[in-house]
Amino acid sequence: MNIGIIGCGTMGSGIAQVAATAGHQVEVYDLNSEAIKKSAEKLSLILNRLVEKGRIDDGKKDSILKNINYTNSLNELKEADLVIEAIVENLDIKHKVFTELESIVSENCIIASNTSSLSIASLAACLKQAGRFIGIHFFNPAPLMKLVEVIPAIQTDAGILKQTMDIIASWGKTVVKAKDTPGFIVNKVARPFYGEALRIYEEGVADFATIDDALKTIGGFRMGPFELMDFIGNDVNYTVSETVFTAFYFDARYKPSFTQKRLKEAGYFGRKSGQGYYIYTEGVMKPEPSKDQALKERIFQRILFMLINEAADTLHMQIADAKDIDLAMTNGVNYPKGLLRWADELGIKTCINALDELFDEYHEERYRCSPILRKLAIEEKNFFEA
Ligand code: NAI
Repeated sequence: MNIGIIGCGTMGSGIAQVAATAGHQVEVYDLNSEAIKKSAEKLSLILNRLVEKGRIDDGKKDSILKNINYTNSLNELKEADLVIEAIVENLDIKHKVFTELESIVSENCIIASNTSSLSIASLAACLKQAGRFIGIHFFNPAPLMKLVEVIPAIQTDAGILKQTMDIIASWGKTVVKAKDTPGFIVNKVARPFYGEALRIYEEGVADFATIDDALKTIGGFRMGPFELMDFIGNDVNYTVSETVFTAFYFDARYKPSFTQKRLKEAGYFGRKSGQGYYIYTEGVMKPEPSKDQALKERIFQRILFMLINEAADTLHMQIADAKDIDLAMTNGVNYPKGLLRWADELGIKTCINALDELFDEYHEERYRCSPILRKLAIEEKNFFEA
């Protein structure tokens, strides 16, 4: 099977590596020759490192390199059976590329986008054969992150969905199906991890270090919310929050934080700029978290219940099924446990009571409990069978 990749920046390069490692012939197109050069150099470096670590042998390295061809002519993608686009996040530019691509590839070629924030329906709309279009959302870095969200648009043919899921699964990925809604699964369900942590900080309940410590030591998360936002970049993370908030018609649950906005405005992006919520200059120590266990327990629970509520509502809105929602969060952002499984373990009624307490305290829509939790409680059911 021939795979075409459009755009060889961060994501395109990673996806090309995944497809070539799975044994496909991969044609990578980018209009920028410098980007092609960089991508090829980076791939060599990565493969050499994998050989040094004993993860692959020289033969495998050579076959991966042989499988990838770089080009600055879109025409070279004419033999492709599946093309995945990973260029700049701009609807008009993507439309131009897809319209040209459709005049080059065969009518059986599946055309996909790796977009994070544009609707798949809006991208598909420019094609003559919109039924062949689908969203394939990888996570960064694509070769390491197991999760791939596959998103059919309302135009997508059922056969194309099945074919696409089978292909991506054959690349060793954990494939979940998501509805064409803002943020798909992961970028929607994860919002409270950042948003509620920021809110707790803004209310003066605790500082960054204490909130991070609560999530790590009590919750078992690999990074605290502020560490993670600094790692992702406050510019990128804030933009995702704002995009999801706008796309959900300003639902209060996704309201972005002015604290993070100020950091973005100041250029305090996090690790990459040397300063974010923390300072990343050598010799500067991270502040010590509070030792107040009861405080940290309250912080952890407030964020966890908000995450559970978001996961529950994602199921309620039929964006994905329960199994896929949990798989997405454990494989896409390494959560220690699936949120719906976590809700089952804590007890559905406990989750409802915690959310109702928050709602009673704040009287804000943000804290409304998802109807599916109440329904499960009445029926004395869990998300999963025991
Ligand atoms: P990037 O900026 O690293 O790479 C984009 C590449 O596309 C560049 O090499 C650029 O030269 C090329 N390009 C731009 N316009 C082009 C055109 N008209 N024709 C051909 N090539 C063109 O971007 P990145 O981060 O790889 O993102 C690409 C896509 O993947 C976006 O849609 C983004 O939303 C999505 N995405 C990004 C993730 C991330 O963490 N960076 C995660 C998941 C999805």
